[in-house]
Amino acid sequence: MTFPENFLWGASSAAYQIEGAWNADGKKDSIWDHFSHEPGHIAHGETGDVACDHYHRFREDVALMKQIGLKSYRFSVSWPRVIPDGTGEVNEQGLQFYSDLVDALLEAGIEPLITLYHWDLPQALYEKGGWKNPESPAWFEAYARVIARRLSDRVRYFMTFNEPQIFIGLGLQIGAMAPFEQNDTDTMLAISRNFYLAHGQAVSALRQEARQPLKIGMAPTGDVYLPKSGTPEDVEEARRASFAVDAGAFTLGNSWWADPIFLGHFSEDAEALFGDRLPRFTPEEWALIAQPLDFYGFNVYQGTTHYPVPADGYPDYAYQGSPRTTLDWNVTPEVMYYAPKFLYERYHLPIMITENGMAGMDWVSLDGHVHDMQRMDFLHRYLLSLGKAIQDGIPVIGYHHWSIMDNLEWCRGYDPRFGMIYVDYRTQKRTLKDSALWYADVIRTNGKSLYALSDC
Ligand code: NOJ
Repeated sequence: MTFPENFLWGASSAAYQIEGAWNADGKKDSIWDHFSHEPGHIAHGETGDVACDHYHRFREDVALMKQIGLKSYRFSVSWPRVIPDGTGEVNEQGLQFYSDLVDALLEAGIEPLITLYHWDLPQALYEKGGWKNPESPAWFEAYARVIARRLSDRVRYFMTFNEPQIFIGLGLQIGAMAPFEQNDTDTMLAISRNFYLAHGQAVSALRQEARQPLKIGMAPTGDVYLPKSGTPEDVEEARRASFAVDAGAFTLGNSWWADPIFLGHFSEDAEALFGDRLPRFTPEEWALIAQPLDFYGFNVYQGTTHYPVPADGYPDYAYQGSPRTTLDWNVTPEVMYYAPKFLYERYHLPIMITENGMAGMDWVSLDGHVHDMQRMDFLHRYLLSLGKAIQDGIPVIGYHHWSIMDNLEWCRGYDPRFGMIYVDYRTQKRTLKDSALWYADVIRTNGKSLYALSDC
């Protein structure tokens, strides 16, 4: 089999994780700059101050993407780089960086996909209450407007938010990511309200300012449960669990964030759990929040047959000795079949895989190459599952490997390496890993090479 025509074979990144240049050319602090400079938040006291220095080296990085043959590249814009205080004055030099990056990508034949918000809230806005402030949707809308005005002549794909489950769930409910807060349920419900409106207002702003027809989505994550067997009952049970709203950590699931935006109402679970405490919206506000989108982006790494999820949010191991990555995440290729299937069957939009990959402990071998066999096998298995979903009629329009290059894995620092390009942080030397060369072949053959060694 080959993949659909014009399939977006891509890779992903996020501003704070790769750019560095944390205070260059007028940029001010994001919450990640701020909290990484306080002791105790990031492994080994590391920061994103320099990271991969992509801000200064993007041309070299785009050349490597071209060498791999990427069709698309998903990156995020740092809000405090373009609007240093979060609202008000625009920093032309910051905007110019993204404009130059977009030009370089297009020149290399690579479709740019922009995520507006990949967690780096301007610190100035955090000091005004951040996502708790009812003005936050207006702040986000104004920011979206600036980006659309400047970049939508050349960029067609936009995502409003990356993983509300993590920046709100882990950041503001559980307190494991910046800004490391633990808020009560009513506050979380108020934050959720602001989030839905921020998304809706940003989509309107993008469409109003667009210089060409845009394709707009979001890039959530969320636990996907795998059927314990292939019986229809088990498949239904896994589907039900995948969209359940969990009483304790209700912000970590799929449907809490997606149902209002993609269906225009809360799920039955959410209604049952919160009743009158649920955020209320006028019909106009519902229309704004749930306005039509073009695709369902999804960041997917692992699935589990265990239900419910343990308190740390990550599924327990699949079975004794089961394969796991450096971050202890399960290797479960089936999730790349069931996630697109379940999400499409509920939300009826084409699926875009916005992230998938694995953390390894890669290093450069004596021969100068990076032999990341495990990543190649991981990708091979996951992509075969994706191919199976496509064969079963699920419309999937793209796949983005996380990540294009090794980078700062948030609180885990630089140890877990997710890239297809190895980065030596002492010298900033880049080396294409074996997986990058393997992926190049997959892209060149539009997926056909995946089937050379397998009967799947
Ligand atoms: C989710 C996030 O979007 C990304 O920033 C992170 O590095 C990867 N997945 C791996 O954890």
